[in-house]
Amino acid sequence: MVRLALVAAAAALAVCGQPPPAADTPAGAPELPTGVSLPVTDANFTVLYKDTWLVEVHQPALCPVSERLLKTWPAIVEKAAASNRTLRFASIDAWANTATLAVLEVRSLPAIKLIQDGRVYTFKEGFSVPAVLQFVRNGTQTARWYNRLPTSYFTISKLQFDVFVTIQRVQQIAYDAFMDLLLK
Ligand SMILES: *[C@@H]1O[C@H](CO)[C@@H](O)[C@H](O)[C@H]1NC(C)=O
Ligand SMILES: *[C@@H]1O[C@H](CO)[C@@H](O)[C@H](O)[C@H]1NC(C)=O
Ligand SMILES: *[C@@H]1O[C@H](CO)[C@@H](O)[C@H](O)[C@H]1NC(C)=O
Repeated sequence: MVRLALVAAAAALAVCGQPPPAADTPAGAPELPTGVSLPVTDANFTVLYKDTWLVEVHQPALCPVSERLLKTWPAIVEKAAASNRTLRFASIDAWANTATLAVLEVRSLPAIKLIQDGRVYTFKEGFSVPAVLQFVRNGTQTARWYNRLPTSYFTISKLQFDVFVTIQRVQQIAYDAFMDLLLK
């Protein structure tokens, strides 16, 4: 009976989610540097399951707000790192890492998230440096909602992001072609 339940659970997982690889850093793995923002991808998002992270998720093109956030991000990282030595920083390219978007339950782009103790807090205000620093200091109390880091993500939400990214890429190709035409 117990075995049957286990098999059923395993089957359900295979249908609706992809179990992430083990979150443990192998012994002897290099310590992550502090005060710099590292890219995090679908191949290594499980680093976010340990430590406290401030994460930005951006669109690499066609999104002026993402562009502005990327410009202010280095200042945010520098100031936040200076006042909080335990914080780690990550940058996520939304178009290339849709599994990570599903795990973080991204609902709009760009996004800033504070990840602590398996909870993902979503920043809701403008992306100015002081507003984000305030969020870092007090995000766990002021964020309007959080979700728990799931042990597996829903394939359906990754698929939704894949469709979104495909549309964005097509739009970019059309946009580039249009600009080419204009500039000729
Ligand atoms: C995740 O993988 C990317 C690509 O290999 C690498 O550049 C990045 O440093 C890794 N991030 C972390 C936090 O280890
Ligand atoms: C660093 O930031 C995290 C997340 O807001 C917070 O929980 C922690 O207490 C801060 N640490 C210091 C030393 O300010
Ligand atoms: C942090 O958030 C709590 C709860 O919303 C609030 O009472 C407190 O004043 C905030 N502190 C700062 C420094 O913003």
